[in-house]
Amino acid sequence: MSTERPLVLVGVAGGIAAYKACALVRLFTESGHDVRVVPTESALRFVGEPTWAALSGHPVATDVWQDAHEVPHVRFGREADLVVVAPATANTLARAAHGLADDLLTNTLLTARCPVVYAPAMHTEMWLHAATQANVRALRDRGALVIEPATGRLTGADSGPGRLPEPDEIFHTALAALVHARAGGAADLRGRKVLVTAGGTREPLDPVRFLGNRSSGRQGYAFARAALVRGADVVLVAANSALGDPAGVDVVRVETTEQLADAVAQHAAGVDVVVMAAAPADFGPVTPSTTKIKKTAADPEPLRLRKTPDILAGLGARRPRPGQVVVGFAAETDDVLERGRAKLAAKGCDLLVVNEVGDGKGFEVEHNQAVVLGADGSETRLPESSKGILADRVLDLVTERLRPG
Ligand code: CTP
Repeated sequence: MSTERPLVLVGVAGGIAAYKACALVRLFTESGHDVRVVPTESALRFVGEPTWAALSGHPVATDVWQDAHEVPHVRFGREADLVVVAPATANTLARAAHGLADDLLTNTLLTARCPVVYAPAMHTEMWLHAATQANVRALRDRGALVIEPATGRLTGADSGPGRLPEPDEIFHTALAALVHARAGGAADLRGRKVLVTAGGTREPLDPVRFLGNRSSGRQGYAFARAALVRGADVVLVAANSALGDPAGVDVVRVETTEQLADAVAQHAAGVDVVVMAAAPADFGPVTPSTTKIKKTAADPEPLRLRKTPDILAGLGARRPRPGQVVVGFAAETDDVLERGRAKLAAKGCDLLVVNEVGDGKGFEVEHNQAVVLGADGSETRLPESSKGILADRVLDLVTERLRPG
């Protein structure tokens, strides 16, 4: 495995969504990855070889006979840190599931020992066909990550499940798979259900104004993807986040703390893990105005506030499911560890991820550092890293605490 620039192999199968793989290749190269593109013969009918060569900065091969002296299928498979097949057509999924080796891509898939991510795209009927579903199960059983296709407009006038997820989504999910592979890569949440909350809630003052906070949702979204690549079924309750829905994750959108509490109450009894990464507004106006508050000559009335429900403390006090692992967060600006310990006890969770916020730390940034306090007295320091790496490390601590399923 390369340490400097991870080698990413992008397999492109022959579907109209091949054009979206151009943006995917670009995202990988621009974030410092070394990319090789392996299109199938039919992919080249949609996007030509010069495009892939120019975007990746490397010559492109489609069959094992080109540059045969270099045995490209073995070299690519052995050296790749990550293989992403996007779009993965019904035909390519079938060939991969049955171990066929009739072109460079399928040969490479058989030699690859790194994580393999498939992003399927096809017409709804083809996706839902029992043959395709059986192929997807076979690939998943062997440890591949097959992202659920998005639902929406397909090539013609039809619409339904079968759309290629947006390149940015495939990219982030693939990166999460790479992060987890570098740390061992077990599918240790397979068969588990994980509920993640993310973003910041808003308490309306009137139809156009609200009390809110600066949470972007990035850390929660990173948890949703990190759990997904470990094999979990993930429900993400997202409060006002501008981020796109993570591919393959069931997303419930909410606005207020009460709506967040309702969504958590609805799902919490059915899940093995709850990650409360959202930043709920702690207070809301006692009586929000139903009409826009007008600017008058006199000073405005002082705001009267009420407390919103503490969702995490509620979960900690009445565990909806025995053996469930509950993770909370503490955003603190001062006396970080001391306040964290007090919060862990007050909220009754199993793990509390304590991070320092303010002054460019924590909110609206790509990186995070934290100390994870355990109800068992443990204290794990997580050095500054991407939010994806932080999520994966915290999930290591979660899986250690899960009862055998
Ligand atoms: N939390 C919650 N419900 C609330 C407020 C917070 O479930 N109404 C959860 C958050 O999702 C987080 C944890 O509690 O996991 C701690 O959030 P934080 O904002 O740090 O603490 P607060 O309880 O709001 O306390 P304070 O703001 O006074 O530090």
